[in-house]
Amino acid sequence: MVSYKELGLVNTKDMFAKAIKGGYAIPAFNFNNMEQLQAIIKAAAETKSPVILQVSKGARNYANQTLLRYMAQGAVEYAKELGWEKPQICLHLDHGDSFEICKSCVDFGFSSVMIDGSSLPYEENIALTKKVVEYAHQYDVTVEAELGVLAGVEDEVVAEESHYTKPEEVIDFATRTGCDSLAISIGTSHGAYKFKPEQCTRDPKTGRLVPPPLAFDVLDAVMEKLPGFPIVLHGSSSVPQEYVDIINANGGKLPDAVGIPEEQLRKAAKSAVCKINIDSDSRLAFTAAVRKVFADKPGEFDPRKYCGPARDLMEELYKHKIINVLGSDHKAE
Ligand code: G3H
Ligand code: 13P
Ligand code: ZN
Repeated sequence: MVSYKELGLVNTKDMFAKAIKGGYAIPAFNFNNMEQLQAIIKAAAETKSPVILQVSKGARNYANQTLLRYMAQGAVEYAKELGWEKPQICLHLDHGDSFEICKSCVDFGFSSVMIDGSSLPYEENIALTKKVVEYAHQYDVTVEAELGVLAGVEDEVVAEESHYTKPEEVIDFATRTGCDSLAISIGTSHGAYKFKPEQCTRDPKTGRLVPPPLAFDVLDAVMEKLPGFPIVLHGSSSVPQEYVDIINANGGKLPDAVGIPEEQLRKAAKSAVCKINIDSDSRLAFTAAVRKVFADKPGEFDPRKYCGPARDLMEELYKHKIINVLGSDHKAE
């Protein structure tokens, strides 16, 4: 048993309480490799923003849970080295799909876990979430649960259509499970294709897709039922068109990739939404930078020469999200 406290990590309790009160949201960035982690920590340290490092099932398969956990421990030390005296870094399991996975993360130094029972029948979701909460809370590890279904890919679960969270269920769910935060479905989805072209309109000037608005009425109804309760938004990448353009201009093929407009995330961040999940935007930044180097310098074969620019572009992206979208800068001085 390793306690996250010994590693210098924090759970989400204080982070979320302050974020709701202060009208901002904590960035939850997924990481799978060293360059992403370096970029996240540099961005958070420079802006003094609390940050959640997320490890998905895919990341655990790709990079190994043990290695990722030691990397997060290293990240705390790296943050201090960068001059961030009291880093507020949470290590979070993203989309845990069983009690065993959540337990293994709690036992091994994660400070927060998500149990995603959203694809289960309601009562089964409650039973599984409650079991995880009872275990995790013994060690002061916070638990995120999910109610409602996001369209798109959720790790290995693929849903054709989203089912918005039913506000009438949230009080019963939160009370009976004891979860610390709740991910809800209001129209966001995972990946770089969040909306089908037929769900969008097209900007006549640019020809780009304009997505439909998120269901803020559902969010408002949830907040009315659970005043001050921490709400989480998954699938919140904006799919920056400048990255899509660089990718497409340098041999890539991402036609009609579209995300959540930043002004909608800004609005959400001011509400009880206190954790906003971003993964795809970082993948796009990485890929755009690498494709550009390969196109400009076909003779390049030193990974540092293309992973370095990728890391720089991701850092720029993370800082932009922190300062201009989520408003979490200078909240962990
Ligand atoms: O929830 C989805 C995240 O973007 C993680 O995706 O399972 O491909 O690592 P992944
Ligand atoms: P994006 O695919 O929109 O980046 O969402 C990531 C996410 O929700 C991770 O859990
Ligand atoms: Zn997610």
